[in-house]
Amino acid sequence: MIRELGKFERVGAHSHIRGLGLDENFKARDVSDGLVGQKRAREAAGVIVRLIKDGKMAGRGILLAGPPGTGKTAIAVAISKELGKDIPFVHVSASEFYSAEMKKTEALIQAMRRAIGVRIREQRTVLEGEVVGLDYNMIPNPYNPTQKIPESATLTLATKDEKRSFSVGGRVALHFLTQGVEIGDVILVDKETGRISKLGKSEKAKKSFDIGEEEVVAVPSGKVEKEREFTYVLTLHDFDEANARRGSIFSLFGGASREIDNEVRQAVDEQVRRLIEEGRAELLPGVLFIDETHMLDIELFAFMNRAMESEMAPIIILASNRGFSKIRGTDVIAPHGIPLDLLDRLLIITTEPYTRDEIRAIIEIRAAEMGVKVSKEAIERLTEIGEKMSLRYAVQLLAPANEFAKLRNSEKIELQDVERASSIFSDVSQSSVYLRKWEEKMLGM
Ligand SMILES: Nc1ncnc2c1ncn2[C@@H]1O[C@H](COP(=O)(O)OP(=O)(O)OP(=O)(O)O)[C@@H](O)[C@H]1O
Ligand SMILES: [Mg+2]
Repeated sequence: MIRELGKFERVGAHSHIRGLGLDENFKARDVSDGLVGQKRAREAAGVIVRLIKDGKMAGRGILLAGPPGTGKTAIAVAISKELGKDIPFVHVSASEFYSAEMKKTEALIQAMRRAIGVRIREQRTVLEGEVVGLDYNMIPNPYNPTQKIPESATLTLATKDEKRSFSVGGRVALHFLTQGVEIGDVILVDKETGRISKLGKSEKAKKSFDIGEEEVVAVPSGKVEKEREFTYVLTLHDFDEANARRGSIFSLFGGASREIDNEVRQAVDEQVRRLIEEGRAELLPGVLFIDETHMLDIELFAFMNRAMESEMAPIIILASNRGFSKIRGTDVIAPHGIPLDLLDRLLIITTEPYTRDEIRAIIEIRAAEMGVKVSKEAIERLTEIGEKMSLRYAVQLLAPANEFAKLRNSEKIELQDVERASSIFSDVSQSSVYLRKWEEKMLGM
């Protein structure tokens, strides 16, 4: 199953972040894992990560609130790094829910279900060993007599301690042929389904064959036939899509994004519940991080509030840089533009503006991450810009400043490159003042 990349999209600006940078006692280190300062928020995020890993956060919500450029998105990215790869983390911007392809509430529910993992455990009987004999019994293809197909085959597998032969039917034998299984391969066969996985070439075979790119593996020891546990993680959305595709004519046209019926979701929930009851699966509630929360409207908020009541709900993390503002779609003013009934159930983590030294440290980390050298004066100027305008803007200026340095055939960003970059690129506050000033003229165009 191919897993969606949601987790690491759009994090270019945050690629220097490796985690929350906490010590063994969950205290924030000054500078660690790419993060600087903002200690209270990082420690709070550390508590959240522990609760999520213990499965004690499902259906709860968190709000990261603070002025622009204070690291809200950065901390959310750090949380995703701390969660590891099994626990889903879906990163969306609220504006992405508005598209022509599907209803906004449908887009929201799909995002929520991508944020819930199901870890499936399967105990299978497998045959594992080096192929030391493989004889096909070929017959003419009944549909095309000029072609031969296997009617059956005899497979001999050896471990360091045992050798066994198995007779396999036509379907599995054909599977062996198409997979190109040969003498000297170390393979794993699911005894019930005949599904094969080639682990590599045996060390012994390596000597006698030209094995090209294939990996060399040790011949397993012990018995050929054994019980083995497989685990893998699918999201509820993976289940939804697989079930929706089944028997649908849309399956002919590939996986275009589209709406999924409620019945399909109910059936999936039933199926997953059964797997859990039977001890074959475990629910891994992950995180749906909705950035730029002020873009959510009253309908999405109401829908989300209800969905959080459900037994299979992810943890929702919202981020807002707004103070009191209108709830989108209403004339109601509320803190962060979030309805009070939802706000009531959120744990709030606030982020604070950085000191000058912290801003400098962050800019230096970003420069190192981009692999660019920056002169002392240029760093100071960027720090000043970060302090006066916004950190986000200062960090963003590194890339164009680097281009200007390259134009001068310089390996190092100097003050003049920063000045040149900041004179042609505006930050949001500048550009909105500009727009206000020219509003009438621009509308008249
Ligand atoms: N404490 C930190 N340590 C290291 N890098 C940071 C820290 N805080 C922010 N950054 C980096 O600074 C830039 C701006 O921060 P970020 O985008 O996270 O701010 P934000 O609070 O989400 O702002 P906005 O409200 O505008 O969305 C990003 O490149 C981010 O990775
Ligand atoms: Mg942000």
